[in-house]
Amino acid sequence: MRLSVVGTGHVGLVAGACLAEMGNQVVCADNDELKIAGLRRGIPPFFEPGLEELVRKHLAQNSLTFTTSVPEAMHESQVVFIAVDTPSRPDGSADLSSLLNVSHQIARNPNGYRVVVQKSTVPVGTGQRVQEILREGSNGTGEFDVVSMPEFLREGMAVQDFLHPDRIVIGVESPRAQRLMEGLLKPFNAPLVVADIATAELIKYASNAFLGLKISYINAIASICEQVGADVTKVAEGMGHDPRIGHRFLSAGVGFGGACIQKDLSGFIRMSEDLGYDFQLLRQVLEINHGQPVRLVEKAKRALGGLEGRNIGVLGLAFKPNTDDMRSAPSIDVINLLLEGGARVSAYDPQAMPTARSLFGSAIGLCPTPYQAAEGADALLLVTEWEEFCHLDLKRLQGLMSRPLLVDGRNLFEPRDMAEAGWEYYGTGR
Ligand SMILES: NC(=O)c1ccc[n+]([C@@H]2O[C@H](COP(=O)([O-])OP(=O)(O)OC[C@H]3O[C@@H](n4cnc5c(N)ncnc54)[C@H](O)[C@@H]3O)[C@@H](O)[C@H]2O)c1
Repeated sequence: MRLSVVGTGHVGLVAGACLAEMGNQVVCADNDELKIAGLRRGIPPFFEPGLEELVRKHLAQNSLTFTTSVPEAMHESQVVFIAVDTPSRPDGSADLSSLLNVSHQIARNPNGYRVVVQKSTVPVGTGQRVQEILREGSNGTGEFDVVSMPEFLREGMAVQDFLHPDRIVIGVESPRAQRLMEGLLKPFNAPLVVADIATAELIKYASNAFLGLKISYINAIASICEQVGADVTKVAEGMGHDPRIGHRFLSAGVGFGGACIQKDLSGFIRMSEDLGYDFQLLRQVLEINHGQPVRLVEKAKRALGGLEGRNIGVLGLAFKPNTDDMRSAPSIDVINLLLEGGARVSAYDPQAMPTARSLFGSAIGLCPTPYQAAEGADALLLVTEWEEFCHLDLKRLQGLMSRPLLVDGRNLFEPRDMAEAGWEYYGTGR
């Protein structure tokens, strides 16, 4: 099928490349000329395992092409996906300006029947607004159906998640669009949840809020563990065996970050408020999460008797492993708190160093190896659970530091092993 995708970010580019991999002819559009210039040469604007290979393969086969023009992208497409960013406004609500802008552009280019698939995460009612824009903007000359198809991929696993989704949700209110989408999605061989558009939109907000809730819940339990001398990793293990609870998203730590969960929680709280419902439960989820980086830095501060003039190494900057994305990463709060306290910061991340450079400039030292971040450090703070940190030479690390103090924001190490190896070790909730 001929498809177009507007927005070549973490969702749109993965969607475009994977839809090409599924045998479709895909044109991707973005208004960022630099991104498109790079993509035409096969260079994705961010790191995502397996993505570059897929982009290069389909560029070479001409099944994936790139343009800065939305009308050009949708020229012969039956289905137009929209995957632009919907960031938080200062009041927490979702900023839909990019999405509405793209909808107007689509409306101005009617050409027979088209299905417009909305993949960005949005408050309930947005699909309806897009449908109205398409109807009014095309002056009755175009025939459009809107489908809501929220995306559930995880950065760092995005290609795998897109090609093998645990479910696909579509909100669709026209039998013709439903038939077309079912045909397009059949090869994915995933459970298909078909609902009306409002329900599909709500499934996404409800899912992300629930993931945030699970993490803040276990972080609250971690705080209790620290008071009573219990081990949160064992508590989570014991809870997780109950199939009604499950093991995933029950890791205590420095909290969730990234472009989605916080933003979507804020958007959901704001949307509920507009409907007259005060979603206090979700406010608490955000509040607990905001407190986690503060708790981590406090541990270091207490152990060191203050931060002024201390050298602190930070391991991990990306909001999670296998990505270079630092949007709302806990490391940002951690580093800002350290700098505010008067500490000098040296940091290392396997992928996010260029992103960190653009965020912090020369305010922190950016080191090419974790060992260099540890040189002369009074403490190390582990913020992102990269696999490579599990294989660190802890003896070498210890030898480089002024004081062998590790505050582990991801419970990557065993407290007893660390104590035996001579470390002053603080985990989270244990
Ligand atoms: N990143 C994730 O893991 C993830 C997962 C699920 C859902 N989502 C949702 O998907 C949406 C996109 O997220 P993302 O992380 O891909 O964002 P992103 O910022 O990585 O990408 C958005 C892209 O849209 C482009 N864009 C913006 N306005 C445009 C316009 N008018 N015309 C053409 N291109 C335009 C931007 O240049 C950018 O390349 C958001 O609503 C997000 O909440 C994200």
